[in-house]
Amino acid sequence: MSLQGKDILLIISGGIAAYKSLELIRLIKKSGGRVRCVLTKSGAEFVTPLAVAALSGEPVYSDLFSLKDETEMGHIRLSRVADLVVIAPATAHLLARAAYGLADDLATTILLASDKPVLACPAMNPMMWKHPAARDNVALLKKRGMMFVDPVPGEMACGEHGEGRLAEPEEIFDRILAFFDAGGRALAGKKALVTAGPTYEPLDPVRFIGNRSSGKQGIAIAAALADAGAETVLVTGPVHEPLPENIRIVRVTTAAEMLAACKEELPCDIAVCAAAVADWTPENFTAEKIKKSDGKKPPAIALKENPDILKTLAGLGNQRPPLLVGFAAETGEVVKRAKAKLAKKGCDWIVANDVSEGMDTFGGDENAVHLLKSDGAAESWPRMHKNEVAEKLVGEIIVTLM
Ligand code: PMT
Repeated sequence: MSLQGKDILLIISGGIAAYKSLELIRLIKKSGGRVRCVLTKSGAEFVTPLAVAALSGEPVYSDLFSLKDETEMGHIRLSRVADLVVIAPATAHLLARAAYGLADDLATTILLASDKPVLACPAMNPMMWKHPAARDNVALLKKRGMMFVDPVPGEMACGEHGEGRLAEPEEIFDRILAFFDAGGRALAGKKALVTAGPTYEPLDPVRFIGNRSSGKQGIAIAAALADAGAETVLVTGPVHEPLPENIRIVRVTTAAEMLAACKEELPCDIAVCAAAVADWTPENFTAEKIKKSDGKKPPAIALKENPDILKTLAGLGNQRPPLLVGFAAETGEVVKRAKAKLAKKGCDWIVANDVSEGMDTFGGDENAVHLLKSDGAAESWPRMHKNEVAEKLVGEIIVTLM
């Protein structure tokens, strides 16, 4: 994958990390991309227009009211010709102005006038990054579709430690590549893991304990994640539904196999556990078919507890998927019980569905769900096709991760 034929507009705002933008320009050019740069007034305090122009091989744009720039290119056209707008580094001040729709210099005017996807790479003091004002601005920009390469932890130029350093140019470059590789889709560069279907817990060579999950809901979620550009792997129990071609499939039978397969796929950015995992498995597997003996009592089946995949993933420390979504299949007091499950399992969101008899949730084409988040947010969605539930859920994921 190269950036041949791609046009990138790079906005360099004012922070000590601006020097890294020079390396980013070099990487884009080396990959065959065209990069036009906008240098803000404060950006020019850290890197010179001459260095940016020399590396990009293009004029550098800085002034909203420059007669020369406006006649050559014009700020509106500059915002139109790019395939992707990248802000690196993006300062707290620039993000705040973008969030409020200010247009008081060339960079913010372009952002307001642009209809192109924007990838922001913030860099700032860790206290500034954590400040509620910055958090709110970033959340608002993400909600509007701005993508982010979050700052990384490390030592800051000011001597403090924490999350605030600009991601390395190579990481930003990889994210740009992944964005185009995925056809410019929102979850480009992200890896998603989805579980679906039932698990079968064998009793003997012909019998098992299973459930009625068809896998439809999990498969639809995996398909929607892949459509949004995520590299998606579906770990599925025995299902008979057609499986999308653009996802990687790992077929398993038991809960233990499902857990092992999920762990193999880590790290990932998003995990959605939609499988109906058997809570118990027979204590003993009988290699010979259990015989029916006329007149004798049916055999008692001793069960032992299966591993809890969702809870295990939630407790994996730095291997824990940053966004972990579980499902809750309930037959009464759906929201109340799902809230308790959200806390007990330690996931970030839980999608609660009513699986009472007559609801047709297991195996049916439709679902009516409640989305509960660990920050207390809760929404109830009307009954809709499982594909629509999947698309809506992936919409929420995009807003959260971008
Ligand atoms: O497959 P379909 O026919 O389309 O039906 C969809 C569905 C009803 C199966 C799906 O929407 C759903 O609700 N999936 C979760 C079913 C379930 O096992 O729910 P639970 O409340 O028992 O488990 C809660 C969560 O823990 C789930 O995310 C489950 O995947 C997970 N779990 C449960 C037990 C276990 N041992 N390990 C787990 O990871």
